[in-house]
Amino acid sequence: MALELAPSPALAPLASERPRAFSGIQPSGIVHLGNDLGAVRNYVRLQYDYDAIYCIVDYHALTTTHDGTLLRERTREMAASLLALGLDPEHCTLFVQSDRPEHTELAWLLATVTPVSWLERTPTYKEKKLNQPDDVNHGLLTYPVLQAADIVIYKATVVPVGRDQAAHLELSREIVRAFNARYGPTFPEPQAVFTDAPVVLGTDGVRKMSKSIGNTIDIFGAPELIRKQVMSMVTDTKRILRTDPGRPAVCNVCQLHRHFGADYEEIWDGERTARTGCVDTKKLLAERIIAYYAPARERYLELISKPAMVDEVLAAGAARLKPLAEATLAEVHAKMGLR
Ligand code: TYM
Repeated sequence: MALELAPSPALAPLASERPRAFSGIQPSGIVHLGNDLGAVRNYVRLQYDYDAIYCIVDYHALTTTHDGTLLRERTREMAASLLALGLDPEHCTLFVQSDRPEHTELAWLLATVTPVSWLERTPTYKEKKLNQPDDVNHGLLTYPVLQAADIVIYKATVVPVGRDQAAHLELSREIVRAFNARYGPTFPEPQAVFTDAPVVLGTDGVRKMSKSIGNTIDIFGAPELIRKQVMSMVTDTKRILRTDPGRPAVCNVCQLHRHFGADYEEIWDGERTARTGCVDTKKLLAERIIAYYAPARERYLELISKPAMVDEVLAAGAARLKPLAEATLAEVHAKMGLR
């Protein structure tokens, strides 16, 4: 199947009468089930009703990834992943953060209305300090200010994210309020929107799925990898014997079945009555995940073999946003007294 992704030069300008959605994703090297169920599915949905802008946040990634070649590769891989999962350049704007450096300037300006104490109490900052104690760089602390700048530079009001980003979104709203209070109404307060799976647990069944924890299901992995990851999932820890009844409400495998077939109640019933064992339920889940993502995986593999096509989409996206980003900065400069 031929892929036609490059946007036409006559790409329509952003339709200003529609509300604007914005979200960002780190170029982490893989896109896992948590990213898709928790956020990317909403990116795809919202692109039809909103002026939707999606950003691969490579500046943010610098707080944890320090290998330039790797970062560049991962940025393109993430772009290919998002396009493969259904972002359509005719319906949304996809770009790379560092292609619009106005974000970092606005982050500086917003930093001047942001008390350090707000940043120090951010849960992700506290977590990262524990995870990388030898690399508590300043970028980690100021990360949420850049995130706020990403959103408000386009005056977006709707932000599709997973629940783990809720604290960052709350902070974005606080920063907006602080700015508006000091310099007059300028930015709208952004709202997070969640999917029906705002927190996808990892294969350990306890912590949220995350590449840094290593508990992911890699949706574009080879089928053998997905099988291995799903088979390693922790289920209901109280179900010791095959004959013990299972508790679908606390079993991550059962919960994930919700998203991969209308018959999940039946699957749950099999577990409750011990008609089926955890292994059967996992095997079924693995095959369903593989089948569900197979077409997207094929598109991904094709896109990644055509880097120029992906780069063209990203360049067009960044170019399209230039006037918007510049207009916001000009307004902010005027309000703050810059020349
Ligand atoms: P990131 O790259 O960690 O994750 C990208 C998106 O995936 C969601 N997500 C999950 N949702 C449910 N369950 C999970 N296990 C799970 N893991 C990840 C995240 O909530 C996110 O929506 N700070 C952001 C990137 C960012 C951003 C922004 C987001 C930068 N600027 C502006 C929104 C608006 C991050 O690191 O996401």
